[in-house]
Amino acid sequence: MVLDHIGIAVASLEARLAFYRLLGLEASGREVVATQKVEVAFLPLGGTRIELLQPTSPGSPIATFLAKRGEGLHHIALQVEDVAAVMAQLQGAGVALLSEVPLEGAHGSQICFVHPKSTGGVLLELCQPGR
Ligand code: CO
Repeated sequence: MVLDHIGIAVASLEARLAFYRLLGLEASGREVVATQKVEVAFLPLGGTRIELLQPTSPGSPIATFLAKRGEGLHHIALQVEDVAAVMAQLQGAGVALLSEVPLEGAHGSQICFVHPKSTGGVLLELCQPGR
């Protein structure tokens, strides 16, 4: 299994991209993800990526996170081949998922979040890459 990315909640993509640029990290692209009400930027980093998430509306889960906890580590994402199959397997084991069906993620990916109460306090994203 592969660590697809590490998700970090930010108030300003511009400010954080400027910081990572100091370390030589450049965003490979930016995208608005409508289902999550966020704009994201991905920073390739070795075999994985950092995902910076900025809310696009006050109703965004990331806006709620920022209001409660401030900027910081939001989730880690594991890459899976078949997210629906993994979801069924986890649901069968009584694991709490944040959606009943896969959601549309960045770059045409299919994603699902696992509730932190089932993972030991970490918001876990399962991510099936788009084609
Ligand atoms: Co993510």
